[in-house]
Amino acid sequence: MSARAIISGIGHYVPPQVVTNFDLEKIMNTSDEWIRQRSGIMERHYAEAGVGSSDLAYEAALKAIENAGIDKSEIDFIVAATLSPDHYFPGIGVMIQAKLGLPGIGALDVRNQCSGFIYALSVADQYIRTGTYKKILLCAAEVQSHNLDYSDEGRDIAVLFGDGGAALILEPHPAEDGRGILSTHLYADGRFAQDLCMENPSSKKKPIFSLEMFQQKKFYAHMDGKNVFKNASERMPEAVETALKYNHLTINDVVLLIPHQANDRISQMVARKLQIPIEKVARNIDRYGNTTAASIPIALDEAVKGGRVKKGDIVVLTAFGSGYTWASAVIRW
Ligand code: ACO
Repeated sequence: MSARAIISGIGHYVPPQVVTNFDLEKIMNTSDEWIRQRSGIMERHYAEAGVGSSDLAYEAALKAIENAGIDKSEIDFIVAATLSPDHYFPGIGVMIQAKLGLPGIGALDVRNQCSGFIYALSVADQYIRTGTYKKILLCAAEVQSHNLDYSDEGRDIAVLFGDGGAALILEPHPAEDGRGILSTHLYADGRFAQDLCMENPSSKKKPIFSLEMFQQKKFYAHMDGKNVFKNASERMPEAVETALKYNHLTINDVVLLIPHQANDRISQMVARKLQIPIEKVARNIDRYGNTTAASIPIALDEAVKGGRVKKGDIVVLTAFGSGYTWASAVIRW
């Protein structure tokens, strides 16, 4: 009997501090109107100093474990996705493992930015299908707010991002039942790595971080917003079409499409290209901003707990981000 991976537990956690567009108006040269019109964002959550992405992932993991109704000691592997790890190294997988008190089990970090969650889901899915692991904890978490440039030079990026974390428990389930992760599809084009990139600290530089870098503010991410926008709104629909075709499904079979919450204008464009009614598209960027790897699982958790997704429903995920990387996944819930 072959097995598929099923999501048996899910949870998310965002830090308590809510930062509205009006709050940002007080600390930088921007406006609520500009941010809402260009991105659909109204507020986001910021972590306090001293809180890292592993802390948000840990809080989300506790909720996912409870939701799955398992004991944490049953977890036999951890996969974690983030572009904002607590440290340059090691990754956050080991930190989540230590916080949970699970020494010995493997912990893998995935560094694929906005596509990180679907890449991590794909890795976990393969391990479950092959029978290597039986209960995988998958976490995706970001603390972006500690490294945003709130001056005029960085305001295009600063207003978009927020902090948050989400976690899932994945287990094997008989494939004959039809439920579970049906397929994942991963893509990348490294020729565009510079379009959205945080270059420093850099192992190419000696030392990897310097006073000059600090003074010239070269430790912030830079983005070619227009190119990212154009590619995101083209690559995500393509990835969804491929995934649907692979599973002999059409867009009419989809109960919920969850695009990475990069910008609500991108989500609307993706919906138009796929000719899916906007009511079937998850959109929560107004409350969270872009939480990068965490955005899809936060939206999935809200959709499941809010009753938008029921047993047997087809849910399609798609992401695009720095790398470029992009991806899609089809789940029968
Ligand atoms: N507040 C006020 N004005 C601003 C701000 C701000 N926060 N940021 C930029 N501006 C100004 C610019 O300086 C510019 O002024 P100018 O005309 O005097 O030169 C003006 O607004 C227009 O700037 P543009 O860059 O042309 O604005 P655009 O319409 O391209 O919108 C944006 C910028 C929102 C970044 C858009 O390009 C975008 O959403 N791109 C997608 C990027 C994205 O989603 N990235 C997320 C990470 S990647 C991912 O998750 C897929």
